[in-house]
Amino acid sequence: MEKLKLIYEGKAKQLYTCEREDALIIHYKDDATAFNGVKKARIEHKGMLNNAISTIIFKEMAKAGIPTHYLETLNERDQLCLKVHIIPLEVIVRNLIAGSMAKRLNIPEGTPSPRPIYELCYKNDELGDPLINEDHALALGCVSEAELITIKTLTLRINEVLKALFDQLGIILVDFKIEFGRTEEGTIVLADEISPDTCRFWDKQTHMKLDKDRFRRDLGKVEDAYQEILRRLETLN
Ligand code: TMP
Ligand code: ASP
Repeated sequence: MEKLKLIYEGKAKQLYTCEREDALIIHYKDDATAFNGVKKARIEHKGMLNNAISTIIFKEMAKAGIPTHYLETLNERDQLCLKVHIIPLEVIVRNLIAGSMAKRLNIPEGTPSPRPIYELCYKNDELGDPLINEDHALALGCVSEAELITIKTLTLRINEVLKALFDQLGIILVDFKIEFGRTEEGTIVLADEISPDTCRFWDKQTHMKLDKDRFRRDLGKVEDAYQEILRRLETLN
């Protein structure tokens, strides 16, 4: 399957049309940004690593019965995915407090949460992806009430599956961000990617950060961290 026309370019990926009307090709770039695009860099091999990592994770999601947009990995940087309408919500789950929540509420990073914290942000760069709740999402008109229920149910299930998967690999799933899409038939499916760009992964033993926080916080060894996540995922059978 060949890439035909570039139809969208985001910070880390490009979207192309292809021969299949119902599908698109997602191309993973090496570009990395943080703080709403203020900090920019290229992380050597990130596109290849995230494509490979997201491929393994989306296959695991499918095995667990989660509907996803993923169809096939075409080569080192390209994935064939179902064409969906992306719902403009960044859906976040936190198992340990870190990042923006630690800062906003002055809670030490690494504090466990008594239960998974479910957050929504409105995906809008101009507004800086503001934190919203389900009522705000409804008022924005981007999602229906029934879809919100589906999204929350799927998200909490995805958290359980991901947490168990990474626990097996000696990794704590601190938090993550996912996105959902609506297919032409109106089905809600997991879309976008799941990778060290979109999750916080800490080594269970050392608590070493194995994710994009190494880039956000200038901790160095960014590529090594992504390689380590892929290496451990490849030990799954
Ligand atoms: P936060 O603590 O900065 O709100 O991030 C929560 C999770 O969401 C973390 O795993 C990183 C991920 N994330 C993204 O995938 N994209 C983003 O633009 C941001 C800000 C966070
Ligand atoms: N998506 C964010 C950006 O805009 C980066 C992040 O913190 O993950 O640049």
